[in-house]
Amino acid sequence: MLDEIKSTATFLKKKINQTPDIVLILGSGLGELATILKDPVEVLYSDIPHFPQTTVAGHTGKLTFGELHGKKILIFQGRFHYYEGYSMNEVIFPIRVAGYMGAKNLIVTNAAGGLNPQFEVGEIMLITDHINQMGDNPLIGKNIDELGPRFPDMTKTYSKEMNNLLVDVANNTFVSLQSGVYVAVSGPTYETPAEFKYLRIIGGDAVGMSTVPEVIAAKHMGMNVMGISVITDMGTDENIEPISHEEVQRVAQNTGKTLTKLLENWIKQVDLASLPA
Ligand code: 6GU
Repeated sequence: MLDEIKSTATFLKKKINQTPDIVLILGSGLGELATILKDPVEVLYSDIPHFPQTTVAGHTGKLTFGELHGKKILIFQGRFHYYEGYSMNEVIFPIRVAGYMGAKNLIVTNAAGGLNPQFEVGEIMLITDHINQMGDNPLIGKNIDELGPRFPDMTKTYSKEMNNLLVDVANNTFVSLQSGVYVAVSGPTYETPAEFKYLRIIGGDAVGMSTVPEVIAAKHMGMNVMGISVITDMGTDENIEPISHEEVQRVAQNTGKTLTKLLENWIKQVDLASLPA
């Protein structure tokens, strides 16, 4: 495992010649930020040694490295979902490679179902904490001591500094920003009404099928993490309607523009020296 991480990191370092300041994993329909990077270097996942291979046709995963407002940005477009049958090790492989390359800051985005009745479809939620209901954990197995500790602390998983800046940026640009707890489930089924109710009772504000494995792997390596959900549908008592992947993607795409602007402004404003090293 560590050998593969090292060799892939070496391969990518040769391609981009720099250490990324900020790594982003963009959820489906949320990939627009990659198109505004300066001097972009694109690498197809299929050309990266040891990278998990995307099997779905027409769903080419790729990474883009480039600069934005003087910061070096590495964007992964297309993530590996647990429900697709990838192992947890495969799901977190890109994060471990980025961390091994020296990246210190991670931003993850996703589409999620709203559990908090105050939320509305199309709103953006800053993730303040998570609950792992996937029934698995990417760190199960022999610990790789070179990457992090056997029993990582998770009491401060989401960076206060990164989050506070996003709240400021949202306020200053008049973007309505919710915040709350993201619950990760394995999927691929969406929730039954009883499951929606249960996830709300245990403390969830939004539910989705990704993000938490990547966040755990990043935290294991000591990275600063920020997570953002786009609320694409609602699963509350007052509003449970059938959910389709098409509708989830449509809403994510529509909110994508707002999220891109928010992230761009965050990247513009962030003082990297103010984030823990
Ligand atoms: Cl409602 N549930 C889950 N598990 N994932 C989602 C979702 C709902 N909406 C978008 N992604």
